[in-house]
Amino acid sequence: MLDVYDNRIFHLHNDQISYALHVLPNGQLGHLYFGAPMHGSQADWQYLIDSGSKSGGTAKFSADSDFTLADTAQEYPVWGTTDYRQGALAISQGQTPLYPDFQYDHYQVLRGKKRDLGFPRTFGEDDEVETLQITLVDHVLALRLVQSYSLFQDQAVIVRSQTITNESDQAVMLDRMLSSSLDLPQGQFEFVHLSGTWARERQVKTQNLVQGRAVIESLRGASSHQQNPFVALQRDHADLNHGEVFGMNLVYSGNFIAEAEVNEWAQTRMMIGIHPTSFTWKLAPTDSFSTPEAVLSYSDQGLSGLGTVNTRFIRRHIIAPRWQNRPRPIVLNSWEAAYFDLTEEKLTTLLNAAEEVGIECFAVDDGWFGQRDDDRSSLGDWVTDKKKFPQGIKRFSETVHDHGLLFGLWFEPEMVSPGSQLIKAHPDWVVRPDKGRYSIARGQYVLDFANPAVVANVFNQMKAVIQAARVDYVKWDMNRNITEAFSPYLQQQDRPQNEFFHRYMMGVYQLYQLLLTEFPDLLIEGCAGGGGRFDLGILYYSPQIWVSDNSDAIARLSIQSGTALGYPLEAMSNHVTAVPNHQMQRITPLATRYNVAQFGTLGYELDLTKLTAPELATVKKQITWYKQQRPLVWQGAFQQLQAPAFGDKNTVAWTITSPDQEHIRVGFFRILADVAGRSVDFLKIPSADPTTQYCIDETGSVVSGDVLRRVGLRLPYQFNGANQTEAVLQGDFQSAVIELTAVKKVSN
Ligand code: DGJ
Repeated sequence: MLDVYDNRIFHLHNDQISYALHVLPNGQLGHLYFGAPMHGSQADWQYLIDSGSKSGGTAKFSADSDFTLADTAQEYPVWGTTDYRQGALAISQGQTPLYPDFQYDHYQVLRGKKRDLGFPRTFGEDDEVETLQITLVDHVLALRLVQSYSLFQDQAVIVRSQTITNESDQAVMLDRMLSSSLDLPQGQFEFVHLSGTWARERQVKTQNLVQGRAVIESLRGASSHQQNPFVALQRDHADLNHGEVFGMNLVYSGNFIAEAEVNEWAQTRMMIGIHPTSFTWKLAPTDSFSTPEAVLSYSDQGLSGLGTVNTRFIRRHIIAPRWQNRPRPIVLNSWEAAYFDLTEEKLTTLLNAAEEVGIECFAVDDGWFGQRDDDRSSLGDWVTDKKKFPQGIKRFSETVHDHGLLFGLWFEPEMVSPGSQLIKAHPDWVVRPDKGRYSIARGQYVLDFANPAVVANVFNQMKAVIQAARVDYVKWDMNRNITEAFSPYLQQQDRPQNEFFHRYMMGVYQLYQLLLTEFPDLLIEGCAGGGGRFDLGILYYSPQIWVSDNSDAIARLSIQSGTALGYPLEAMSNHVTAVPNHQMQRITPLATRYNVAQFGTLGYELDLTKLTAPELATVKKQITWYKQQRPLVWQGAFQQLQAPAFGDKNTVAWTITSPDQEHIRVGFFRILADVAGRSVDFLKIPSADPTTQYCIDETGSVVSGDVLRRVGLRLPYQFNGANQTEAVLQGDFQSAVIELTAVKKVSN
């Protein structure tokens, strides 16, 4: 719903949130409110507007009034215009900075948003989403700026983006154009972000904000292992399940900046967008540029509550309709089973075992093409290695299909190896400067995806393989970041080199578009050396992403916990792997490996032929059970009751609750055995319906939702020196998954 008062105050609201903005005394756009739904009248909004500026020592916007932007909440601030905080927009002409003064012109409302594969953007039906577009004009500079705000039915989310058009007769340079800025007038906040590195992605980090700036960013050409574009502000005293939290996420996979700035009057500004470093966009007369979208989310139920908000939104308005509410196949991936040592014979034995335990998709990972016996060669030459597959990958795919499984194949489309045919034929297709040295990583270079000819070539190669081998699932990997960014193509085109990083991403999205247009049923799993590109841009095309190269169950607890604050469970591709774990050398029980992996899209990645008969029987049971129960993963609400970054570091507790609250899955993990702990442990289940009685599947006991909420679910006994026969949890790396099923309503 949109309420407009006097073409001056705009209030977007639904049952979950309100977002209000207004035209400031200087004609620019000011921010009024974002948060819990308010049914404010015009007088209420006017009351908030009337607070005015009370800050001394500020520069004034004009000689004839006291108005200043220094402490005014704005929608899209420009630095240096009586506001000295970081701005969202910076424009120049030649060597000269411009200070645009965008004045309100008019507004319009659009219904529905089409899904368009050209660039990742949120979408929805006509009755699901309305977009308020406010057009602002700088008449002196002849620039037009359209601010878009999409409000979605029943979602605690506002999606923002901007389009700027050059209506002058001279080119201007966009030096900075972020996707969103949010000025929060009151409150002390902590800045929450997901940081890490390879094999340790998305660890929850919390910084107390003081006057100054907290910034996270990626300048690697990918959203990165090191930082993630999902950030949040949590109010003082908010915790995992309580208190106000404001989230921001960028629908983009390249360089980004996200920051929170607190000024001298304790006002907080949060911003997100394409990183301005190494970004310039040349806007010739009549040209337009649109920013990626930013998703602003809100919860009054802490960070886990914000995760639920993000999940509901992404499921419906980011993930491709084809994969909404549809089971994802359980994959057996060859990587940790065989690495580069692939032979048709070996894979066929593995395939037989996979079929026997109920695997649904057999995926051949790296090593099937060129002469790829290690990670130093053949990228760019997507033709079968006949040494490994004498009858071609097509023949092996037929075998997989004959066994009734889907066939999956690994590609690393954006990369090229030094000795490849591709690089010999097209030395100028590589990202590298025309002068000076350049670096190599994992023995490979990055292809210049800013060049449409490169994208077309890679697409044609992939298309030939996917078509011939009837590939059902592609794992799209990306194993290095960009260094010495320089596009030979942009040089030829006489475009600014600072357009490269964004044009590179546009090339990546273009390849996705070509593939999914040609093969609409293809499931493409995103991957970047593990979780180096886990973002909404990739999720728009790839409904699931490989979470991390670290497949150790205990390491995964914190990685999955952090990831779930911004993304749905089913977006996480989780594989059960061998022990000792290949990254950590840790030995964890098979049950724990599975129990962690089942909180997501389940797969396996180990040599099944090395398992004992009882282990294989267990795997078969796990798969059978997962197949029956998996809708809960993509339909239910995930809640983190205890998480590694909060409170007790030794235990983790998660629930998934079905929309009707009739089914609750409880996952409990204790990392190190704790014999001195309490003899009886209860875990409160806040999502239980107090008017329902639940059967605890494992024991058959029946208990009311009221007891589950107030006292809790009795956790299985941990061995503590006595009662060994009854102890379910023993030793380190314990886990239990408990199903609660509604049996009847409690009568009052
Ligand atoms: C990195 C990925 O994350 C792994 O799963 C695997 O596909 C390797 N690359 C293959 O080179």
